[in-house]
Amino acid sequence: MPELIPVLTKNEIDAMVTGVAHRISSDYQNRTLVLIGALKGAFIFMSDLIRHITIPIQVDFIGVSSYGSGTSSSGDIRLTKKPGIELKDKDVLIVEDIVDTGLTLSYLVDYLESFGPKSLKICTLLDKQERRMTDVKIDYACHLVGKGFLVGYGLDHAENYRHLPEIYHLKL
Ligand code: IMP
Ligand code: MG
Repeated sequence: MPELIPVLTKNEIDAMVTGVAHRISSDYQNRTLVLIGALKGAFIFMSDLIRHITIPIQVDFIGVSSYGSGTSSSGDIRLTKKPGIELKDKDVLIVEDIVDTGLTLSYLVDYLESFGPKSLKICTLLDKQERRMTDVKIDYACHLVGKGFLVGYGLDHAENYRHLPEIYHLKL
């Protein structure tokens, strides 16, 4: 049986999410902010984050998949859902659950730049720097994590564990 070792509690996650929401609200005052959540992993972070943002925003999602059922990025990134709202001349913020190799984000940045946004920045709940393979710049990282595969709070392993309210290290 895989083992789940607690990494972040509900209270710790809440504090990170409210903290970054306040930073975003203050940095994007009087701008035209569109948050784009990367499906599926970021859907819970996104839904909590936007409820703590205090400025007018628009919300959309983009679908990307790179993992299959393994625990490392295949590097073969597929777009499964395109953004549905106008991004030209908007201030766009990509919302990710976790950045590992950075390949998914590099792909997303290149893809979203093609819509001509006014600015394009990145917010991630978790930043796993150890296996980074690109020099993608993360503007808002809530929490640095070490090696290991994490699940819960939207993060999955082979589509399981997304519903867990807290974050765990999965020991296979
Ligand atoms: P990257 O392309 O290697 O940076 O991987 C990014 C994507 O892989 C993230 O958006 C996650 O959806 C997924 N991912 C990376 N590390 C983990 C993890 O520890 N647990 C669950 N999903 C992960
Ligand atoms: Mg993701």
